[in-house]
Amino acid sequence: METDSVQSVAILGSTGSVGQNTLAVLALHPERYELFALSANTSADLLLEQCKQFHPRYAVLKDASKAVGLAARFKEQGLKTELLVGEDGLSVIASDDGVDTVMAAIVGGAGLSSTMAAVNAGKKVLLANKESLVMAGQLFMTAVERPGAVLLPIDSEHNAIFQCMPDRTISEDLLKTESGVASLDKLGIKKILLTGSGGPFRQLPLLEFSLVTPSQACAHPNWSMGKKISVDSATMMNKGLELIEACWMFSCAADRVDIVVHPQSVIHSMVEYVDGSVLAQLGHPDMRTPIAHGLAFPSRMASGVESLSWSKMTGLTFEEPDTQRFPMLALARIAATERGSLPIVLNAANEVAVDEFLHERIKFSDIPVIIERTVEKIPFEEPTSFEEIQQIDLRARQLALASCTNNGHSVSLGTRVAKLHGAVTLNATKHEVKH
Ligand SMILES: NC(=O)c1ccc[n+]([C@@H]2O[C@H](COP(=O)([O-])OP(=O)(O)OC[C@H]3O[C@@H](n4cnc5c(N)ncnc54)[C@H](OP(=O)(O)O)[C@@H]3O)[C@@H](O)[C@H]2O)c1
Repeated sequence: METDSVQSVAILGSTGSVGQNTLAVLALHPERYELFALSANTSADLLLEQCKQFHPRYAVLKDASKAVGLAARFKEQGLKTELLVGEDGLSVIASDDGVDTVMAAIVGGAGLSSTMAAVNAGKKVLLANKESLVMAGQLFMTAVERPGAVLLPIDSEHNAIFQCMPDRTISEDLLKTESGVASLDKLGIKKILLTGSGGPFRQLPLLEFSLVTPSQACAHPNWSMGKKISVDSATMMNKGLELIEACWMFSCAADRVDIVVHPQSVIHSMVEYVDGSVLAQLGHPDMRTPIAHGLAFPSRMASGVESLSWSKMTGLTFEEPDTQRFPMLALARIAATERGSLPIVLNAANEVAVDEFLHERIKFSDIPVIIERTVEKIPFEEPTSFEEIQQIDLRARQLALASCTNNGHSVSLGTRVAKLHGAVTLNATKHEVKH
């Protein structure tokens, strides 16, 4: 992997939280990186400002309806940046020969195609878009085997786990080439300990969940993030998605990954070894740290994040996750175990439900109900192509949306995960389930 030559970077989703943090890190190291491309969905104003500051060769606006206006403003400002539009534009900047490193920071399943384009083109892919690995784990990890492709985790937990692995070279090989639990065994790893803060409602009485507003759900106690991942953190679906992500990324079975609630978000995850040692990665809850780690890997560089203040640390605490309060954790564990279409359906239904909640069309407490219902309705299958994944994703989104529309605010917390577990296992036994 090149470390001393100037790296050319494309950011998919530069106007988002991770995208902006990436630009903040890159701005500290102009001698090491050049901006090849930036992208936004609809945030034309911010994309323009970013282009004025960083002068990339390309900018992509996914929303074609704003493209003509933005192109005119580029011209007015004398910008040399070429404006591309839509999904095709995203694929171009993810796979162009002029790009070394792609930051995959689009939110949700919308990031799958362009992230896959980067992997297929053999890029160094910094993966923030966990949904693409959740949806297409097998295809994704197979594509990472291609010459040149390198996958580095940006999700802070996965980045922490990666940092706690025994040897950089070995762990890079592990990420790229090995599969099955033997990989962890070979490294002497007993467990991966995935930490999570528990979100803003860790102690909120369950009866009050139906009253939670979008702004309350988006107010994470420790992290500043985009709206979708903030709501996912509040339902703890984020931890569930991360569990699935970890199983693919570190080639391990779900029972090798424990979720540990750590409300202070100082430890970003841990790795337990067979000799009883536990290695942890600590730091401020600030995405610039894993972003700088991924960009500079295998070396290190400043991220702009200040040192931890040990004397001001008020104590680190740990708890078991509460699956009664956060039923999505249990459902995600089933999906991580059964794989196949389950993670795709789970992810798609979650995206729809979260969006409906953010638009105040369903209640916060409706989110798990919509997801459970959608998972129950779609039979288990083993997709083997990108097209099949997209079909399952679309079907799940349609059903989830219909479920939201039919029930609106009257959805009740009826179906519990125990029942769902039975249904899913029953479905799964009818097929060849790959673990
Ligand atoms: N935020 C964090 O601290 C954090 C931490 C770990 C992992 N992640 C993961 O990183 C990803 C991004 O999260 P985020 O919090 O940065 O999200 P965000 O703030 O909502 O930003 C999302 C980015 O994706 C673009 N986008 C949205 N919908 C799109 C579409 N349909 N097509 C193309 N581009 C689209 C947005 O453009 P517009 O601005 O135009 O909408 C924006 O640039 C997620 O997968 C999340 O789980 C985030």
